[in-house]
Amino acid sequence: MDKIQSLKGMIDLIANRSDPEDFAESIFRTEDALKNIFINFGYSEIRTPALEDADLFKRSVGDSSDIVNKELYSFLDKNEKKITLRPENTASVIRSVIEKKIDGNTHKFWYLGPMWRYERPQKGRYRQFNQAGIEIIGYPEGVAELEIISMICSINNALNIKKSVIKINHLGNKITKAKYCNALLEYLKPFSSQLDELDQKRLEKNPLRVLESQNQNTQKILKDAPIIKDFLSDESIKMLKMIKNTFSKDCKIEIDYSLVRGLDYYTGLVFEAISDELGAQDAYLGGGRYDNLSEQLGGKNLPCIGMAIGIERLSLLSNVDAEDKTLISFIILSSNFEEKAYKIAHDLRTINSKIVVDVQLSEGSLKSKLRKASKSNAKFAIIMGEEEIQTNSIIIKPLIEKNSEQTVMDINEISSFFKDIT
Ligand code: HAM
Repeated sequence: MDKIQSLKGMIDLIANRSDPEDFAESIFRTEDALKNIFINFGYSEIRTPALEDADLFKRSVGDSSDIVNKELYSFLDKNEKKITLRPENTASVIRSVIEKKIDGNTHKFWYLGPMWRYERPQKGRYRQFNQAGIEIIGYPEGVAELEIISMICSINNALNIKKSVIKINHLGNKITKAKYCNALLEYLKPFSSQLDELDQKRLEKNPLRVLESQNQNTQKILKDAPIIKDFLSDESIKMLKMIKNTFSKDCKIEIDYSLVRGLDYYTGLVFEAISDELGAQDAYLGGGRYDNLSEQLGGKNLPCIGMAIGIERLSLLSNVDAEDKTLISFIILSSNFEEKAYKIAHDLRTINSKIVVDVQLSEGSLKSKLRKASKSNAKFAIIMGEEEIQTNSIIIKPLIEKNSEQTVMDINEISSFFKDIT
């Protein structure tokens, strides 16, 4: 029979403890490190469903965006309702805040989970990928901007990201953004017939999207286009400079007036962190302020700012050591004394949080079980056979220090032997 394969652009993550370079292992470690940072900054977790009403993303991310135009996983459910697998989480978080009527308060949320975009898969670009993110809700422009950039610097430092550049820009308020869009439209109109079909559509729906065009001819045309800097207030430009100055000792920050981001809901500060070590898909994080989204989705006026991190991309850059734990492989050589062995394993895990006790469940010879223990980088094997049970003892075999001898130990002494092992 034919084997069933995973869908294109969707990967299985299977950790392999014995390989520190393992991609899945590195993803899981990166996720744990990010969770710790979010918690240390005082954020609370939010989990929203993977499936949402398809209209949610049209009304937030915007139907001029590539995400909504080309990349949504949308389908009709059994009730003929159009639903979408979330391509990002900001819209869902705000939908939830409005629905639960908690939009009168301030919140600092973090989340982590899979997102779906029907993109052409390549290195760093998947159809199912994982994002960790934060949304700071109910805080107008000001300290929240500083907090979010400070968190990006903390992430870079904690995960040892070396070649990172944080690009920042300001899209102004609703009025500035509209004025700039207008100016861009006026400039681009005479070139309309020279644009490709996609850019013509972008021009029609939202001229800002033309700035993201990959078409070289469009980029040439854009060389003399108006830039947002000329439309921004002094305060917005001052804010960009202040952010750059505040964190420049810690992180490399560049003001980039051409950065507009591919989602429609942004107003105010926008940013992306990139690394040239990632190749073509070089942004490992992006975000910005979105003060109008709540009202666009039927909620109250709610100023917000947030960001999302692409876990797969960040984990290619991050250098987080595995948590320093000692692995012990527990080898039981008969099913008669599993109960006793499990009690010992349970006690060991309780007395020392620095040790991992892996009870080998499979049948097999002592030799093959020892080989498996060594392969998984266990520091010790605990062996329990018929003879040990008769004498109320166990064997402890060091596996890493090659010349160390194995010892036979009374069962009552095991706890004190492993209590302080690290
Ligand atoms: P975004 O820039 O669309 O922003 O995505 C954030 C990050 O997710 C990207 O920088 C990238 O690292 C990762 N990413 C996006 N698409 C893929 C893909 N196909 N494969 C792998 N990684 C990918 C947002 O999603 C906004 N919701 C961010 C935000 C939060 N803005 C305000 N709050």
